[in-house]
Amino acid sequence: MTPHDATEARAVPVHSSALRHPHEGRTVSATDAPMTTTQIALAAGDGIGPEIMNATLSLFRAAGVMDHVEFVPVEMGRSVFDKGDTRGMTDAAIRTVESCGLLFKGPMETPKGGGGKSINVTARKIWNAFANLRTFRTLPGVTTPFSKAGIPIDLVIVRENIEDTYGGVEHRLSNDMMQCKRLISAPGSEQVIRFAMKTARASGIKHVHCGHKANIMKMTDGTFLDRFRHVALDFPEIECSDVIVDALCMNLVMKPQSYRMVVLTNLQGDIVSDLCAGLVGGLGFAPSANIGTHISIFEAVHGTAPDIAGKGIANPAALVLSGVMMLRHIGLQRQAALIKNALLKALEDGVRTGDFGDRTKQPLGTVDFASAIAQRLGEKPHTVPAVAEPQIGHDTVTHKVHPKPARPEVIRSHTHVTKHVVGFDVYLDTLQPSAAVAEELRALSADSPFRLTVISNRGTQVWPTGSAFTECVDYWRARFELASDASPDAVDQSHVLALLGRIAGRYAVGSYELLRTFDGVRGYSLAQGQ
Ligand code: NAI
Repeated sequence: MTPHDATEARAVPVHSSALRHPHEGRTVSATDAPMTTTQIALAAGDGIGPEIMNATLSLFRAAGVMDHVEFVPVEMGRSVFDKGDTRGMTDAAIRTVESCGLLFKGPMETPKGGGGKSINVTARKIWNAFANLRTFRTLPGVTTPFSKAGIPIDLVIVRENIEDTYGGVEHRLSNDMMQCKRLISAPGSEQVIRFAMKTARASGIKHVHCGHKANIMKMTDGTFLDRFRHVALDFPEIECSDVIVDALCMNLVMKPQSYRMVVLTNLQGDIVSDLCAGLVGGLGFAPSANIGTHISIFEAVHGTAPDIAGKGIANPAALVLSGVMMLRHIGLQRQAALIKNALLKALEDGVRTGDFGDRTKQPLGTVDFASAIAQRLGEKPHTVPAVAEPQIGHDTVTHKVHPKPARPEVIRSHTHVTKHVVGFDVYLDTLQPSAAVAEELRALSADSPFRLTVISNRGTQVWPTGSAFTECVDYWRARFELASDASPDAVDQSHVLALLGRIAGRYAVGSYELLRTFDGVRGYSLAQGQ
């Protein structure tokens, strides 16, 4: 399928600042004859999105980007949610993005209530844009405590983009207990870590850190760290270290110059990358690339800024910088460098929007800010290193569209593993005290191959021993392990289900988890105090 199959794809390529949404029945005007090479799906976004997108595209045009790419408008965001489509994107938009393999997007509003999920998260997940890449560099004219102290910041954060609590797998388990499942897979971790290491290699970064909390979450963060160490073996020229995420946050605030690249799981990476945005001047300058094997998405980190939407005062720099990342990604190194240098020069000259910079200088609106950058195309900054500009002729698009997979692929890290069922955890919604629960469960399991070994509450052991100081809530975990006379070879999941059936006759069972060994290694954590 090509983009021309989609309604939106038939829109005239974008070659002027008069970007309009095709759904509004207006056209996108073209001023130059296109020399089409690659197509990029374009969603202007909500709130300030159209303002900053138009400004960015005007700069692209001035830098000659439109000679190499064709932007294909797609319908995504609030207008689609408003029509009751909880995906926030039309079928045609999906087809266009999938055939282009690239999406350049403005910020989009997340509907409040009504079941609509964040389109930004949905897009990254369904298209498997598994790596979120964000760069943080000291910018001239953007004053921060570090710029004042003369400490340069040059940092890259790579965040896993799909797994973790962002699966949004949440349940109410009892009156008082809520759960969000944190899913971390070995191949998902490996994929993003390998991307980080390859990026480090290509960028000449010599030291990569893995941020984690494996001291507490030994199975999930432990797997991420294990995969980091495994992948690191393939990159012997890169120094690889790990750092616990809380210490990382403190270090980043105290000595950010000690880090060049950090790779993290999704939620921790989300928090750490916003911390880093603060180090270099805030969200107005935070670009991001969501990279996948087939589809990559480029967007600013900030949201739709409803408080200033329509006023023409938004700062387009983060979207411009995201566009620069996209141009690099597709091989337009010269245009990317031209725009980046012009932006740096403009900032150096004190050009500013109202959200940053020297308050004694008059701020420009979005359009004038972009024009001021365009006027400096071909100039270079003096107070910070300029980006090397490749010669004319070295500016061809290298991006290739990969064929659409026939079906969802199963990615794997560990194969040929021998697994044994050695017990199970069952979660009960009850107000009964632990001793009473234990008595009943022991009676129910008396003739089974399992014996009750632990009851815990919020992860802390309360039976057979516990502390009177441990406060409990209305949701208990009972752990059954193989009885001493039971052989692992004679026990399987059916024995677990038989006993669970009996327990369910007496208690509200919220969920259960098998306890298994994998090649003889315990595949579950112990309760605190066990
Ligand atoms: P926000 O980033 O839109 O705004 C936070 C503050 O920063 C506001 O005071 C705003 O005026 C300011 N700001 C943000 N971008 C700016 C810019 N380019 N120039 C000048 N000032 C700027 O965050 P908020 O208010 O939490 O979210 C608003 C909406 O945006 C929500 O619906 C949220 O779900 C959505 N959102 C979308 C994102 C995306 O599309 N990737 C990311 C974050 C939020």
